[in-house]
Amino acid sequence: MKHFINLQDIPAKDLRKILIDAKKRKTLRKRLNNLDVDPGSPLKGNLLIQMFEKSSLRTRLSFYLAIKQLGGSTLTLRPDELHLAKGGESIADTAKILSNFGNAFMLRTDNETKLNEFKKYLSIPIINGLSPSSHPTQILSDIFTVEEIKKRKISKLNISWIGDSNNVLNSLIAASIKFSFKLKIGCPKNYQPNKNIMKYIKRNMSKVHIYNDPKKAAKDADVIFSDKVISMNDKVNKKKKLKHFKKFKIDKKLLSFAKKDCVFLHCLPRGKEVDEEIFSSRKSKVWQQAQNRIHVQKSILLYCLNKLR
Ligand code: CP
Ligand code: NVA
Repeated sequence: MKHFINLQDIPAKDLRKILIDAKKRKTLRKRLNNLDVDPGSPLKGNLLIQMFEKSSLRTRLSFYLAIKQLGGSTLTLRPDELHLAKGGESIADTAKILSNFGNAFMLRTDNETKLNEFKKYLSIPIINGLSPSSHPTQILSDIFTVEEIKKRKISKLNISWIGDSNNVLNSLIAASIKFSFKLKIGCPKNYQPNKNIMKYIKRNMSKVHIYNDPKKAAKDADVIFSDKVISMNDKVNKKKKLKHFKKFKIDKKLLSFAKKDCVFLHCLPRGKEVDEEIFSSRKSKVWQQAQNRIHVQKSILLYCLNKLR
């Protein structure tokens, strides 16, 4: 049994194994419908319990289809309907019940400690479906999408992130270290990654570079990533923050600094950080990116349940 909480904690060779499995599975499903089960039903009889303490569209749907396509089933708990939320039941007791009834637990939470507390008490794997500090299933899936589009290992590519230093970027930084790819970050001076992330970058002698000029970050990029300037539950002066990011908008001019065949990726939902012209252009691969969540999360589930071939 393995947890999937942060990319930092997972060996690079395991992350690569997940991607290889996802590629094989995606190829095998070309003629199958959404709810058709993969040959061999590898997770037959397994229940994935999901709980979202914050909004979700893609993660919810893609995990639903992921476990179904592996022959298992899923149940989504509403946090406000559990005793846990009202303070009546402990994480320890909740975890005991989840472990007895389910085979894996996917949690999206605004509380980092909760993830670790659940990990402590669960005897089934826990998957982080987005926390304040990371979004690992998103980024592993995005690595898959980049390699699928570019038909090359990500270590051979120039990756750029233009936007806020948030949970998604933290996971991209971890991925850059695990997969050894160049990552240029473009963000305003006061919005750089936090101290711990900066220490992690330095400690690992990484290929991560930070610029306060978006043009420098976009230069020669094969892929440009972005995300909303205001994340869910971001407790900031929104107007002020949006103003600080004005120069960091992804538009035609900014993309002209990147390679000619540069593609644009965004985990979604989007805000105003990207021009409609770019978002709906052929350079934008955001729908393919969202679709791939299903394939990669299937292999993450198999990894967590020790069923990866
Ligand atoms: N990208 C992503 O995680 O989307 P949702 O918030 O809709 O799940
Ligand atoms: N950074 C965004 C990602 C949403 C999928 C957020 O946390 O709201």
